[in-house]
Amino acid sequence: MSPKKKKKVLVVGDLNVDIIGTGLQAFPVLGRETTTKEMRLSLGSSSAILSCGLAKLGVPVTLISKIGKDDFGKYCLQALKANKVKSDNILQDSKLNTGLKVSLNFRNDKAEVTYPGASPHLRYKDIPQKVVRSQDHLHVSSFFMQTDLISFFPKLFQDARRTGMTTSLDPNSDNRNQWNAGIWNCLEFVDILMLNEMEAINITRAKSVNRALELFAQKVPMVVIKLGVKGAVAKSRGQVVQLPAFKVKTIDSTGAGDSFDAGFLFSFLNEFDLRKSLNVANACGALSTRDMGGTTMQGTLKDIQKLIRSRR
Ligand SMILES: Nc1ncnc2c1ncn2[C@@H]1O[C@H](COP(=O)(O)OP(=O)(O)O)[C@@H](O)[C@H]1O
Ligand SMILES: [Mg+2]
Repeated sequence: MSPKKKKKVLVVGDLNVDIIGTGLQAFPVLGRETTTKEMRLSLGSSSAILSCGLAKLGVPVTLISKIGKDDFGKYCLQALKANKVKSDNILQDSKLNTGLKVSLNFRNDKAEVTYPGASPHLRYKDIPQKVVRSQDHLHVSSFFMQTDLISFFPKLFQDARRTGMTTSLDPNSDNRNQWNAGIWNCLEFVDILMLNEMEAINITRAKSVNRALELFAQKVPMVVIKLGVKGAVAKSRGQVVQLPAFKVKTIDSTGAGDSFDAGFLFSFLNEFDLRKSLNVANACGALSTRDMGGTTMQGTLKDIQKLIRSRR
């Protein structure tokens, strides 16, 4: 499973810190105070978690995002460096604050509050063409959140395609619940679309996951819909593959979908078939849930192989 040739990936998207609490005594209620067993600061955001996941698998990754010139921004840069993600092109704006997400895990669910901060202020002109041209693959995360970039995404994908790059997109959720239809203008320039069940249904307005998969597959060569603890389903060149999730001792599922994406992209860059790609991605998603935060327990190639072998 070792990479053939090291293809370089450029990730464009969000960047923030996460504060994650687990083991809440009671769910927060206005006017009351409650305690939690654990509360930790960790590197957050779909783009950063995916980038770290790819780097852990030996893929050279450059991340372009916008943060503030503040302590949380500094924390993001240090964490990316520790995870071997190139951050030279991350912009720090002293007039803006770094984004922050507070995530409280309670029973088998979580409540999240997101402060997007500087992330949505990344502009098309902040992405140097020279950097785009030097990469092999472009991945865009958190489409709906990138308000200053959203109308430029088709152009960005086209730029990448023109230079011979392959492309992928994980739109993630639309917190304003608008599901901007502009996303369809991007899809013709996207090679891989990865998203979860709720996002797929909201974007297509389809009645079922299978129908959403079909609708996307009419536009995109490779579509992957993540089904949480049920695993994932994918369609490519008329072939549909559905595989269950791996069973692990889950502590926190923050960023599981982003680690999943890292596994799927790694597989795509190494030309694995659809079944193997989905298996690797499911393994990466599951492995990442073994600790709090998105990046602390992301899988290495060895971890992935061991988990996949354990199911045979
Ligand atoms: N509790 C879990 N146990 C094992 N695997 C999980 C668990 N939660 C998520 N995963 C894996 O991570 C993938 C992505 O999770 P999901 O929640 O569907 O995506 P997203 O984080 O984008 O919403 C799933 O398809 C699955 O493979
Ligand atoms: Mg997601």
